[in-house]
Amino acid sequence: MLNIILFGPPGSGKGTQSEKLIAKYGLKHLSTGDLLRNEIAAKTPLGIEAKNFMDKGQLVPDEVVIGMISSALEANPLAKGFLFDGFPRTEAQSIALDNLLQFKHTQIDIFLSLEVNEEELVKRLLNRGLTSGRSDDTNEEVIRARIIEYENKTSVVADYYKKFNKVAAIKGEGSVEEIFALLCNEIDKRLS
Ligand code: AP5
Repeated sequence: MLNIILFGPPGSGKGTQSEKLIAKYGLKHLSTGDLLRNEIAAKTPLGIEAKNFMDKGQLVPDEVVIGMISSALEANPLAKGFLFDGFPRTEAQSIALDNLLQFKHTQIDIFLSLEVNEEELVKRLLNRGLTSGRSDDTNEEVIRARIIEYENKTSVVADYYKKFNKVAAIKGEGSVEEIFALLCNEIDKRLS
């Protein structure tokens, strides 16, 4: 199995690069943001609760997202591996993920961290907000709140994986193809 975490601040290109990586390596894409937006669209109680946090740019409580990831892992017993996008976002989520994977006799192989400067992030997200319909992309205040939430609560997750020597930092600025090549290079190095 190959299990990858694609990490980085809002707008760093996790979703864009995930699509390409799952196609190349045959992985199952697990994005907590997408799973939460599906719940919102279906107007489930979980979705209604999550929307209150997401519209303010705040993280959804750990137990909600850990439960979703646990169900998604259970639902894909034949997957060749998983690409985690936007998860884990706190140390509690990292520990829970390690435990869930250990139960499946597997582990995280590599933690890829996309690095992009803040003004570029805001520019990308405001631009996407013109057409995406995502309520958390249309307001610059909410976008900056998401970035602050990342700096305060999520960036520490990289330190957790550094302890296990799994982190590779990648410059997330440049063309989509250039960044994809850098990501593949890091993965292939670990595979060889
Ligand atoms: P989530 O859906 O995970 O969003 P995010 O982390 O804020 O990231 P985005 O999807 O906005 O950006 P991305 O890094 O995927 O970049 P993308 O490729 O889309 O989370 C949303 C919310 O859900 C959170 O705020 C939180 O409330 C909640 N949530 C989710 N997971 C959670 C968790 N684990 N715990 C608690 N709460 C959770 O690209 C962005 C834009 O840039 C696109 O328009 C793209 O076309 C463009 N772009 C991409 N690459 C490039 C490039 N190289 N050059 C120029 N433009 C580019």
